[in-house]
Amino acid sequence: MAKRVMVTGSNGYIGCVLCRELKDRGNEVVGVDSRLYPENFKVQGYPYEVDGLFYRMEDIRDLKEAHFEGVDVLIHLAGLSNDPLGDINDKVTRKINVYAAVEMVSLAKKAGVKKLIFSSSCSVYGFSPMESPVFFVETSPKHPVSTYAETKLVCEGALNQLNDSDFTVQILRNATVYGPSPRMRFDLLINAMTATSFFGDQIVFYSNPQVKRPLIHIRDLCNVILFFVENDLEPDTYNVGRTRDNFSISDIAVLVVRAFFERFGKDIRLRYSIDNADPRSYLVDFSKLQNVCPGALVNEVSGGIQEMIDHFVANFSPEDDIMDKETSFHSIQHLLKRMEKGELDEEFRVLKR
Ligand SMILES: NC(=O)c1ccc[n+]([C@@H]2O[C@H](COP(=O)([O-])OP(=O)(O)OC[C@H]3O[C@@H](n4cnc5c(N)ncnc54)[C@H](O)[C@@H]3O)[C@@H](O)[C@H]2O)c1
Repeated sequence: MAKRVMVTGSNGYIGCVLCRELKDRGNEVVGVDSRLYPENFKVQGYPYEVDGLFYRMEDIRDLKEAHFEGVDVLIHLAGLSNDPLGDINDKVTRKINVYAAVEMVSLAKKAGVKKLIFSSSCSVYGFSPMESPVFFVETSPKHPVSTYAETKLVCEGALNQLNDSDFTVQILRNATVYGPSPRMRFDLLINAMTATSFFGDQIVFYSNPQVKRPLIHIRDLCNVILFFVENDLEPDTYNVGRTRDNFSISDIAVLVVRAFFERFGKDIRLRYSIDNADPRSYLVDFSKLQNVCPGALVNEVSGGIQEMIDHFVANFSPEDDIMDKETSFHSIQHLLKRMEKGELDEEFRVLKR
């Protein structure tokens, strides 16, 4: 049955694709986003503004109980969403990702919303020693290694406290996402490697190439979220991804290098920049999700790499220097530039559009 669904972070990397899919399945969608980032990537079939989709250009910190009137399901994606971004301002990251989130969800519950789907992250597991790798399940010990990951874990705990017979909290710990979206993020593994290979000729490792990360295609993640919108399950926490999609960074690089060679005869160089090595490394077990919604994940990493290349070919020339010139492709540079221009304050509130 169609539902009225509110999506916070509706104009972000995942939100743009999710809102379209929700709408296509007949749901009434209300998008809430303070618009930290502009549209920066053309994706066929995914206009930024979906016809008939109602957007609220609001900060989640300003939402009132009345905004949730008639909403059945709240999907919370908004926040400062990557590890280095969380380190720019530790305190503000906690304020937005934890306090504002919990306050907003409490208001939603008070207003009669029945279900929350919270977009958490597998990065809460943090680190598993490479010499004795273990596959993390939902109940495994957590060792978040960044402010961002820590905020996800703390927020999960606080949101779980809101569960009762009238309100269900589903926590989705997503793998690292890849694939095209109208608001592109190039701080994510496959997206970054394909971009630096297309617009340059290299892949840079910012961590030991042997570290492990699980991956998920953006449309597969949206399928999983749709499953939780449409099905009323007991409140729970799920790792979201597929166990066979745990890769080492070097495995991914090999796939990207091969794709560029086969398609363009182009040689991609591998560079190492591990001064500030990213310590995250985790293998994740996704069998719990697989048991509840088998078939939601259909995309393969190699296909996702080709899809990224197709989008670059359709919209850019390799000579376009989007990675350097167009800072909207880089979350952190984009936000710092907006602050410099007086468009954002230090609490990441939008002052000017
Ligand atoms: N992309 C991934 O690989 C991944 C993996 C695991 C979890 N997640 C989580 O999924 C969610 C969405 O991720 P994304 O990749 O789309 O990130 P994103 O940065 O592209 O989107 C976040 C959106 O939230 C908005 N926003 C930020 N602060 C806000 C505020 N105070 N009020 C209203 N809007 C605000 C931004 O304008 C942006 O559009 C995030 O919570 C992220 O942590 C993402």
